[in-house]
Amino acid sequence: MIIGILKEKNNENRVAMLPGEVQAVRKLGIEVMVERGAGERAFAFDGDYVSAGATAGDRNEIIGKSDLLVSVNPPIDDKITDFKNGQILCCIVNPVENREWLEKARVQGLTVFALDLIPRTTRAQAMDILSSMATVAGYKAVIHAASLLPKFFPMFMSAAGTIKPAKVLVLGAGVAGLQALAIARKLGAVVEVFDVRAAVKDEVKSLGGKFIEVEGAVEDASAGGYAVEQTEEYKRKQQEMIQKHAAAADVIIATAQIPGKRAPVLILKDTVMKMKPGSVIIDLAASTGGNCELTQNGKMIEVNGVKIIGKSDYPSDMPTDASKMFGANIVNLLKILVDREGKPVLDFSDEIVTGTTAVHGGQYISQRIKQLLNLQ
Ligand code: NAI
Repeated sequence: MIIGILKEKNNENRVAMLPGEVQAVRKLGIEVMVERGAGERAFAFDGDYVSAGATAGDRNEIIGKSDLLVSVNPPIDDKITDFKNGQILCCIVNPVENREWLEKARVQGLTVFALDLIPRTTRAQAMDILSSMATVAGYKAVIHAASLLPKFFPMFMSAAGTIKPAKVLVLGAGVAGLQALAIARKLGAVVEVFDVRAAVKDEVKSLGGKFIEVEGAVEDASAGGYAVEQTEEYKRKQQEMIQKHAAAADVIIATAQIPGKRAPVLILKDTVMKMKPGSVIIDLAASTGGNCELTQNGKMIEVNGVKIIGKSDYPSDMPTDASKMFGANIVNLLKILVDREGKPVLDFSDEIVTGTTAVHGGQYISQRIKQLLNLQ
């Protein structure tokens, strides 16, 4: 089997696989081709790929010869007819946003593995690209906030007096939120964390955060560790509680999400007006509408002296480690997609394979895709 690494388009700095992961793939008995310049923006050059055992070529050659293509984003700008019936594509699909492209891929007979649909199970953890990218985003969000804040994060006892530590409020204690908590604590801030899932309370405490609770949250054990939609009464209570804590915070890192839905609105305009001028809100949920009512995706705005950052591409700002994690997750996925000779075997009795296969043999496969695209 030949795997082809495609070069990303637009402003994406990541690459799906770095030379280190090419070596790991070669050990599985798989040949690797790389589009020229694919890793440049992640500081991995064609010579590094060749030294790792890959062959460099132009895009047409890579698409023409590969059995399986890897990329961070789906290759939506290429003609779908350039891809062969039966060819496998592995990328983050964003099925709702890219539904037309996915439909064309289905009709063309491609097999598309949506890396954003890897189930959040213990076995699939090593392949969970969204968790890897959320780790990067949680880290970068805190560093970004610290650089914009007109104050120190840590407490300082100096000859000029004592400086109080910054107060950080983290909304949502999933992967990004827990990472943000850990980094903010390392920088010396006092951190409060809010989540609807009481199960995360101990994790928050163990990382040195204070957990804020609002009673009456709806939890659903069948939601695979994800949050579910809350009642109107609960939403009102949580907005009030957040307002109280936001008024005292210097930084808010907002990460709350419900998969497949608009992000919950937790910070109202009224709350921003009660915050201290100079404070910073980093809204990681910007691409799904934002946790703050005022967030604009891809923009930094200022309201009442509060900076509100709606940035959706933090992983692209840290391309070396983000690509390293991305590639390592793909290598782990490949281990269940190929046999001992390195040939593709798609075992549809494996829940990771069925859960992640968006389209195959002209059909939509994953139940999540069918739900997200209202195909049921
Ligand atoms: P996750 O699903 O692991 O965590 C989200 C958390 O939000 C969960 O713990 C959930 O219980 C909580 N939550 C849901 N509704 C809530 C509510 N009403 N109040 C409080 N908490 C609530 O998600 P993950 O992987 O940590 O990602 C977080 C966000 O970061 C997502 O929106 C994701 O798309 C985004 N992201 C942003 C990036 C960027 O560059 N801006 C990069 C990667 C991810």
